[in-house]
Amino acid sequence: MEIIAGVKEMRRRSEQLRMERKTIAFVPTMGYLHEGHLSLMQEGRKMGDVLAISIFVNPTQFGPGEDYERYPRDMKRDLQLAREVGVDIVFTPSTQEMYPPEFQTSVEVEKVTKNLCGISRPHHFRGVTTVVAKLFNIVKPHLALFGQKDYQQLATIKRMMEDLNMDIEIIGLPTVRETDGLAMSSRNTYLKSKERKAAQSLYRSLCRGEELFHQGEKSAAAILQEIRGIIEAEQLTQIDYAKICNPQTLEDIEEIEDEGVIALAVKIGKTRLIDNLILKEE
Ligand code: PAF
Repeated sequence: MEIIAGVKEMRRRSEQLRMERKTIAFVPTMGYLHEGHLSLMQEGRKMGDVLAISIFVNPTQFGPGEDYERYPRDMKRDLQLAREVGVDIVFTPSTQEMYPPEFQTSVEVEKVTKNLCGISRPHHFRGVTTVVAKLFNIVKPHLALFGQKDYQQLATIKRMMEDLNMDIEIIGLPTVRETDGLAMSSRNTYLKSKERKAAQSLYRSLCRGEELFHQGEKSAAAILQEIRGIIEAEQLTQIDYAKICNPQTLEDIEEIEDEGVIALAVKIGKTRLIDNLILKEE
């Protein structure tokens, strides 16, 4: 497994692989890898001749007072896991090289970023799209894989690809869950045991929402009322948002016609968790 820290070196390596007509599959990550990341890598391993990942905790997607400093990091463990999955290249750029002092450009996707996490984290998606565009320019993948757990991130990246005519296939893969239903996230490590129990209410409430939908309930307000009830029954939870949106535009919907996405962000103690579930007529 190659570990490449320099931007120039990574670009050179990717150009060489492209000249050899190798298909590059890419999984961008912020490290502290879990089963969700590993499932993206396993799929990437099958889809590309070469599997590249990046490990970079991107400061520009964290707001003031968020967890950039304490975001979990363990490079040694990450490299071991990457090796076990069969990753070929790990790109580990430094913050100084990604954001030199003269840096002043960003990529902003306007509409799809406004609702949901865009309300309480107004600059988050600009940080994500900017770093993802940079990583794509450096790693030059043919395809890139993202988890559907970050549904709004995936929708935003797809929009950026279309709008900027970027020639990379974006693949979204289903959320990987713990046995109790909690969506895998590097931030789960922050949860103390009582918080961890309260966190189960997110998926429980999503499943109840899905059940109501399949029983014929099409009113977003009625479904959300049940969802809120389940989450709020846990003392340690504080809902940031619980919404049902159009899966493409991410605008709120009142009546679910063919499909919708239930999207949640809930603070449990100091930890903010997100989760979602697609509602679709069978
Ligand atoms: O999903 C993540 O881990 C990050 O937002 C990403 C896509 C690696 C960009 O920093």
